[in-house]
Amino acid sequence: MCRFEQLLANPDETAALGRRLGKLLSPGMVIALTGPLGAGKTTLTQAIAQGLGVDPHMVGSPTFALVHEYPGRVPVYHFDAYRLPSLQAFMDLGSDEYFQGTGVCLIEWADRVAAALPADHLCIKLAHESDGRRITIEAVGKRSQEVLRMLCTQN
Ligand SMILES: Nc1ncnc2c1ncn2[C@@H]1O[C@H](COP(=O)(O)OP(=O)(O)OP(=O)(O)O)[C@@H](O)[C@H]1O
Ligand SMILES: [Mg+2]
Repeated sequence: MCRFEQLLANPDETAALGRRLGKLLSPGMVIALTGPLGAGKTTLTQAIAQGLGVDPHMVGSPTFALVHEYPGRVPVYHFDAYRLPSLQAFMDLGSDEYFQGTGVCLIEWADRVAAALPADHLCIKLAHESDGRRITIEAVGKRSQEVLRMLCTQN
């Protein structure tokens, strides 16, 4: 199974990779984003959404709304688990219905709701480096592995 790892030197590189990834995604896929404060989760989310045909200006930080929905070539559901009090609160948002729906789900702070993630998803980790951010992408399940394989072979 392939694993994608890259140093992103600046926000533009984060955005370029996000747009590339967004173009490879299809309805029903789930992306779990993890990484500390300021690691670039929202920057990447905006770009993935753009790759899915969403107007990037619509994409903010859903910290207070908990989930935002954006229309695109494929609808995008953007979750932020940072302020969720519990796993149950995430499930009460209707996470399973979103996962089974026809949109792409992007979840910031996904490590806080790991137990509620579907069997097939992409795991994206962002980390601070002195010269930018390090991104690591792994796939769980067949569909996500196929997308990751396409991303790796584009390089
Ligand atoms: N590859 C990069 N190199 C340097 N800075 C970056 C890179 N990618 C994004 N940034 C910058 O890091 C800052 C934080 O980004 P962003 O808001 O996307 O992080 P976040 O992980 O969503 O943070 P939070 O956890 O606070 O919501 C922004 O100023 C963004 O432009
Ligand atoms: Mg954010």
